[in-house]
Amino acid sequence: MERTAICPGSFDPITMGHEEIIRRAAGLFDHVIVVVGANPDKNPIFSVDERVALIHEVCRDMANVEVDKFSGLLIDYVQERKAVAIVKGLRAVSDFDYEFQMALANRKLMPDAETVFLTPSSQNMYLSSSMVRQIARFGGDVSPFVPACILEKVANRLRERFSEG
Ligand code: PNS
Repeated sequence: MERTAICPGSFDPITMGHEEIIRRAAGLFDHVIVVVGANPDKNPIFSVDERVALIHEVCRDMANVEVDKFSGLLIDYVQERKAVAIVKGLRAVSDFDYEFQMALANRKLMPDAETVFLTPSSQNMYLSSSMVRQIARFGGDVSPFVPACILEKVANRLRERFSEG
């Protein structure tokens, strides 16, 4: 039986850190579905469809990776896609509380939902989408953090967004 993993996130926008985690997951599972979900605590800059399109470009060479979006509860999506695991990247200690809480809540809601944490390499350990947005907001260079194939699109879009005020 094919083993599917769900890689959920806000991806606002996808970073080199996300790409690394997706690539690692793609090496571990038969099928990986990267899904853009709504985090009620965040106010995204990129629309869901923009984020899906950017992830598509970044994952183009990963044959077993699919990209999708979901609304509602993650575990409902996990169930619908008959996935065996939820994959999340765990960076510095700062992620731990939040991710642990989510993993336990998801397990409570769906006891079969297994959350698997993958560790990024040290250069991506402190990388986050919010850092990328902040660097762009103050006119900095985001090229060390955003995959090259989407860099221009992301940088232009962020510049446009922040010049709107
Ligand atoms: O990249 P993020 O912001 O950590 O991603 C969070 C996301 C979208 C995966 C999470 O907020 C989510 O699963 N949202 C859907 C609602 C849900 O199922 N929450 C978990 C139970 S509290």
